[in-house]
Amino acid sequence: MSLGLIGRFASAAPERSIRLSAAPGMAPLVVPDGPPTQTWLFNGTAPGPVLRAKQGDTLVVDVENRLPEPTTVHWHGLRVPVEQDGVPHFSQSPIKPGESFTYELPLHDAGTFWYHPHINSSEQIGRGLHGFLIVDEPPEIAARLAADREIIWALDDWRLDQHAQIMPFKNRHSMSHGGRLGNVLTVNGSHVTRTEARSGERIRLRLCNMANARSFRLLFAPLDPWVIALDGHPVPPRRLGESGLWLGSGQRADLILDVDLSPGEQARGIDDAFGPDQAIEVMTWNVSGAAPLRETPLPPPEALPSNPVVKPDLSNAMTHPIVFEGGAMDSMSGAMMNGQMLTMRQVAAAGKFWAINGEIPSGYQNMRPLLSLQRNRTHIIQLENRTQWPHPIHLHGHSFEVNDPRYFSGETTVIRDTVLLAPDEQVEIAFVADNPGTWMLHCHVLEHQASGMMGVVEVT
Ligand code: C2O
Ligand code: CU
Repeated sequence: MSLGLIGRFASAAPERSIRLSAAPGMAPLVVPDGPPTQTWLFNGTAPGPVLRAKQGDTLVVDVENRLPEPTTVHWHGLRVPVEQDGVPHFSQSPIKPGESFTYELPLHDAGTFWYHPHINSSEQIGRGLHGFLIVDEPPEIAARLAADREIIWALDDWRLDQHAQIMPFKNRHSMSHGGRLGNVLTVNGSHVTRTEARSGERIRLRLCNMANARSFRLLFAPLDPWVIALDGHPVPPRRLGESGLWLGSGQRADLILDVDLSPGEQARGIDDAFGPDQAIEVMTWNVSGAAPLRETPLPPPEALPSNPVVKPDLSNAMTHPIVFEGGAMDSMSGAMMNGQMLTMRQVAAAGKFWAINGEIPSGYQNMRPLLSLQRNRTHIIQLENRTQWPHPIHLHGHSFEVNDPRYFSGETTVIRDTVLLAPDEQVEIAFVADNPGTWMLHCHVLEHQASGMMGVVEVT
């Protein structure tokens, strides 16, 4: 059962031109033959189809809006020209119901990316509009990993009532606290948590956290996978070890999983982001009775070549502070909104709870750039979380270098597009501002984004 499901995702053929149609529909989220959930879907499935193309290609996607409200599509992690980035107002006008928009996406970077709407994101993504976008390395490079097969996991959670229907959005508690946490966890749109593996096989596992708010910390004991890429960008292969794999909303990882277990044994994929006593089973791997695929274990996977991201020149960088404030249990006294200083009470009355550098945008049209970045120079942005909540912070249009505190305690620099900040943590991101335009910088907890935690930086 679950094998068939994953097989559907594993066999997606390379595409260069595709049509995505966003429309209401039903999906069997909880059990395959249980009550279906009323959702919003791309091409009838949640997640939507896996879009796949080769590095260097241009992917053309025709998006048709059959929803009852306007939408756009953002290609999370792809470094595309700003008019293809899917942000209302700064990239394009919203796609009205009944209308279409064609995106042309140059694929500079190979890796694991994803797509989702960028209007009313909490609700549109929360109702099921999201999917993988995979950019393949040239086959001879992928072959160096020696993976026997590839598995793709879209991790998501859903807030469902007892009839398996989606609970209402725009909840003030989830906005001011940790975001909309679901009560049903799904992998590739199904609450099935069993799959088969074969002794001795090597699996390439692509993971994406498509949940509105939940952060995962994944462990695969007794297996110890290699991490080979984060947010699409290769890292020197390293065993995950006990630190586990942190995935904030919007983040991705590529792993190599060597099934070094005997036939009949079991491994469990566990999420314990809220501590070991609240651990959730994400997936159980049952090793089939078939004879091991190989007798001697494979050597460690080779590193993938890095993507063409220009290396920041830290000795000649401009530094900019960005401070996040607000939310429950914070002492923020007020903030600027629409050019006026408001008290916290007035801010909350307007349905906002968070501010960036003391500013709260009332909508996309009313965002003044937080920063103006000189083009082709290295910029260091100091992200400071002065709140009591974790925030996965995402920058559009660029990938940045970061000493990610969630990845081997910040020992190595990695390239990402989303970084997870713990409460009271400060993290520096560095990048060359080589993509002109006005770019979103926001929290990927979509309820935080909707209630003030978003802004733009301009590259000129
Ligand atoms: Cu994945 Cu601005 O978003
Ligand atoms: Cu947040």
